[in-house]
Amino acid sequence: MFDNTHFPRAKKFWHKGKLHDWSQPSIHVMSHALHYGTSVFEGIRVYNTPKGPAVFRLPEHIERLFHSASTLFMEVPYSKEEIIEAIKLVIKENKLESAYIRPLLFYSYGNLGLLPKYSPVELIIGAWEWGAYLGDDPKKGVYVYIVPWRRVHHSQLEMTAKLGGVYVQSAICGQLARSKGFDEAIFLNLEGNIAEGPGENIFIVKDGVVKTNDKTESVLEGITRESLLEIAVGLGYETSIGAITREDLFKADEAFFSGTAVEVPPIVRVIDGSIPREGKREYTIGSGKVGEITTKLATAYKDSVSGKVKQYEKWLTSVYD
Ligand SMILES: Cc1ncc(COP(=O)(O)O)c(C=O)c1O
Repeated sequence: MFDNTHFPRAKKFWHKGKLHDWSQPSIHVMSHALHYGTSVFEGIRVYNTPKGPAVFRLPEHIERLFHSASTLFMEVPYSKEEIIEAIKLVIKENKLESAYIRPLLFYSYGNLGLLPKYSPVELIIGAWEWGAYLGDDPKKGVYVYIVPWRRVHHSQLEMTAKLGGVYVQSAICGQLARSKGFDEAIFLNLEGNIAEGPGENIFIVKDGVVKTNDKTESVLEGITRESLLEIAVGLGYETSIGAITREDLFKADEAFFSGTAVEVPPIVRVIDGSIPREGKREYTIGSGKVGEITTKLATAYKDSVSGKVKQYEKWLTSVYD
């Protein structure tokens, strides 16, 4: 019924304790989450390492999933250990070596009032092979558009949670940026500072200092972000956490996104469309080429997730243990 063209190598997904054929739907069209975005999810990657496939920072992703669930008043019907085992099972059953994993907890079928009183919480887990999400050529860097819409503010919703419904803003702005020929969007926050991308954190490099913002700027504090901060310190770079103004970004020596799906793509050009009445202004980041520190961090990240750096093997959970 459903083909897997955009889900390479996905053959089975997990739902309610069982594996189902990818092409066979297992949820009702009146499921609560489908109508109101009442779901929480994770994006996780498994990488091929010398010790076989390993999941990157699995316990941290599961912790965040539970944090997100509590924000939506969900009682998760599984333990963290059960979810970890189910994720490993999905990787094994699909015979995947490197993949993107998507666990989603959602209010299912029961009622369609706004309060999901009679809608049970269910879990689905899918996994498929997913290559570069942003920019096919990492050496070229990406071209980004600062959208007019401001990121949902932390005073409006818990932005440290991955709430399905909030991603409608990401989907709208990601499409807006692409419709104008850009690779990706960037949101400002209500303070007018740089917040994040639709599914990515942002770093800048200035005078050798690697800087990113935090949840006080209405961003999801990504697991990739945290890993890169540790890697940067390990490589001897000074790091800093704080607000990033638009000027900071435009005058940065280097800039890059970070996220599970995108990994570490460099940002080389920015168009600021954040204030429509002022028109659009274009800025080149640094020399317009991918920066040296970005390249070092991206390489170190790639090596760490692939199990090539002893120090960071602690971040890997082997699938076949
Ligand atoms: C809005 C948003 N910001 C940042 C990130 C980066 O988070 P992570 O590095 O944990 O994937 C993501 C991806 O999950 C995201 O959706």
